[in-house]
Amino acid sequence: MRISTQTISLLKGERPIVAVTAYDAIIARYADEAGVDLILVGDSVGTTQLGFETTIPVTLDMMLHHTAAVARAQPKALVVADIPFAVAHGDFAELLSACCRLMQEAGAEAIKIEGGAAMAPTIERLTRAGIPVLAHIGLLPQQFHQLGGYRKFGRSEAEKVMLVDDALALEQVGCFAVICEMVDGAVAGAIAQALTVPLIGIGSGPHCDGQILVANDLLGMTTGYVPSFVKQYAQLGEQVKGAFAEYTEDVKNGKFPS
Ligand code: KIV
Repeated sequence: MRISTQTISLLKGERPIVAVTAYDAIIARYADEAGVDLILVGDSVGTTQLGFETTIPVTLDMMLHHTAAVARAQPKALVVADIPFAVAHGDFAELLSACCRLMQEAGAEAIKIEGGAAMAPTIERLTRAGIPVLAHIGLLPQQFHQLGGYRKFGRSEAEKVMLVDDALALEQVGCFAVICEMVDGAVAGAIAQALTVPLIGIGSGPHCDGQILVANDLLGMTTGYVPSFVKQYAQLGEQVKGAFAEYTEDVKNGKFPS
């Protein structure tokens, strides 16, 4: 049975939600066959696949291209597409049109937008228009330049209060779930308790209603920095390099084709 936004919301309190990113049909198919609940076509495609240093250069066209590839795998898992930086903070009509294109042309079943309470009025207009929205609080990678780097959130009392307020504001405007990135574990637990919708954590400890990881990180296919909270379940990068090296040797030595 296909997983809907309602399924995700109803999983809260039943069992932890399993989410992962994917950017193409092949990885989406493997993740789906493994039983994940939600596939996020994150704008992390910029850093994981496209060679950018941050997610900021990612455009709507790139998101359409990668979302369509994931949707072509026809996963049972819910397919969520990220709204890129430049679109999320522009004109509302442009944002609505981007959401519609991601859903109509690319096959996304929901969209994700970074931002806390300040984004709530915009998100309310989207949910009223029938666009299912996954919120994203805590570390917002699209604000990399404003933040001056990546760090943990919720360590001060003021930040804790702000994060709970952000999450509640986003729930109130109809988000079906909230992602919280790099939030102090105890604070993430408090947010999860305060919400009726699921809180899906990344680098935010074990007290969330589910977890999401970037596929390249968990598969061991990240060439640069891997955050310390990541558990690597495979070392595919090393295997891929080994296979290419063996092939190179075989061709050079006349062993392939035999
Ligand atoms: O773009 C992305 O992959 C994300 C996840 C890290 C949650 O936003």
